[in-house]
Amino acid sequence: MLLKNDQLDQWDREAFFHPSTHLAQHARGESPNRIVTGGSGVYIEDRDGKRLLDAFAGLYCVNVGYGRTEIAEAIAAQAKELAYYHAYVGHGTEASITLAKMILDRAPENMSKVYFGLGGSDANETNVKLIWYYNNILGRLEKKKIISRWRGYHGSGLMTGSLTGLELFHKKFDLPLAQVLHTEAPYYYRRPDLAMSEEDFTAYCVAELEALIEREGADTIAAFIGEPVLGTGGIVPPPAGYWQAVQKVLRKHDILLIADEVVTGFGRLGSMFGSHHYGIEPDLITIAKGLTSAYAPLSGSIVGKKMWAVLERGTDENGPIGHGWTYSAHPIGAAAGIANLQLVDSLGLVKNAGETGAYLVETMKDALGDHPHVGDVRGEGMLCAVEFVEDRESRRLFDPARKIGPQVAAALLSEGVIGRAMPQGDILGFAPPLCLTRAEADKVVDAAAKAVKAVL
Ligand SMILES: Cc1ncc(COP(=O)(O)O)c(C=O)c1O
Repeated sequence: MLLKNDQLDQWDREAFFHPSTHLAQHARGESPNRIVTGGSGVYIEDRDGKRLLDAFAGLYCVNVGYGRTEIAEAIAAQAKELAYYHAYVGHGTEASITLAKMILDRAPENMSKVYFGLGGSDANETNVKLIWYYNNILGRLEKKKIISRWRGYHGSGLMTGSLTGLELFHKKFDLPLAQVLHTEAPYYYRRPDLAMSEEDFTAYCVAELEALIEREGADTIAAFIGEPVLGTGGIVPPPAGYWQAVQKVLRKHDILLIADEVVTGFGRLGSMFGSHHYGIEPDLITIAKGLTSAYAPLSGSIVGKKMWAVLERGTDENGPIGHGWTYSAHPIGAAAGIANLQLVDSLGLVKNAGETGAYLVETMKDALGDHPHVGDVRGEGMLCAVEFVEDRESRRLFDPARKIGPQVAAALLSEGVIGRAMPQGDILGFAPPLCLTRAEADKVVDAAAKAVKAVL
């Protein structure tokens, strides 16, 4: 009914505060809006009847694709049986307990428990609090700073917006907060010296990290947070040997590791977790998006055994842990998570993400790799990015005022495909649902080639 309302567009301009949007242009009606009404497989449909291939899976989250009735039915059944009960003081529901077990069965071996939140940002806030608690219980009262990478994305809360290493999320918000330090992004294409091999660049990133730890003092640094593959910062897989070298440094200085797997968790790289993919042994893993394929809001912090033992000790000494939200472990989210993970398994989506993802990246390289304004085509699993430059030789950027990335994304849209102009730099990102077929990958690449031709 609502969707037939011819005032909807006006109400959207008047009443709705959209995240990550140019508020003034939207309110004045100067920027386009899209009212999405349906979805099936990798396609969404809008109110004007336009069908678009969503090659960014919403915000890299609708991993199983749209319109999966199995998940919708699980949500409906849970809502009818028990829409809500809290998880405080030992309460739980069949769905939340079962999902915790399913997650641990899929996670790296050294993981112990799952704390449930609602989104990636709040899960990372939980992680920071747990780390501070952990060091307080161990009597390391000064060991509190968290190292993140420039171009990392970890959310847009106070602490998580600080951990995020993108200017847009700091500017005019009085962020980053003082406890956050940023180090070099493992962004091989932007290495300081073109002559560096991937191994040289890894050594450079690690030397920068060591210098930061030296300057600040290891006894003031609690943890390091990183996405296995940089996501919102530009879809950048790490250079060879990066995670092994970083972990060696962290272990030497007794610094905990948070693997932020909000994008990479549950199959996007062609492995169940990015931690498996790169041999990362984290102390905490952040999960969200692919946990429910966004059919309901749900996130989690998977806590490793080493930290868990200290958290238990903390409550023996201090009483119940003072952390929780009303909606922690919401049964509707948990029911969606169970049905979603079952689909990921039964449809073989982890394998498909690896195989069709590799095909997408290779086909994209063939189509655009030699274009004079394409500096880099890269990807891993079902993640792919095309980076535009004014000059290939010098890797010179376009004047940001030209908005080349958004222009190419708009041209792509007119070809019927949704990609994402990443927020920093002229980078067109793709993160399709994990059920993408080769024929759909071909459509994405064809549309991208036409869009690039139209703009550049
Ligand atoms: C790696 C990563 N961490 C955290 C977040 C924040 O998640 P949310 O937007 O659900 O708060 C995101 C969101 O894109 C993300 O990509």
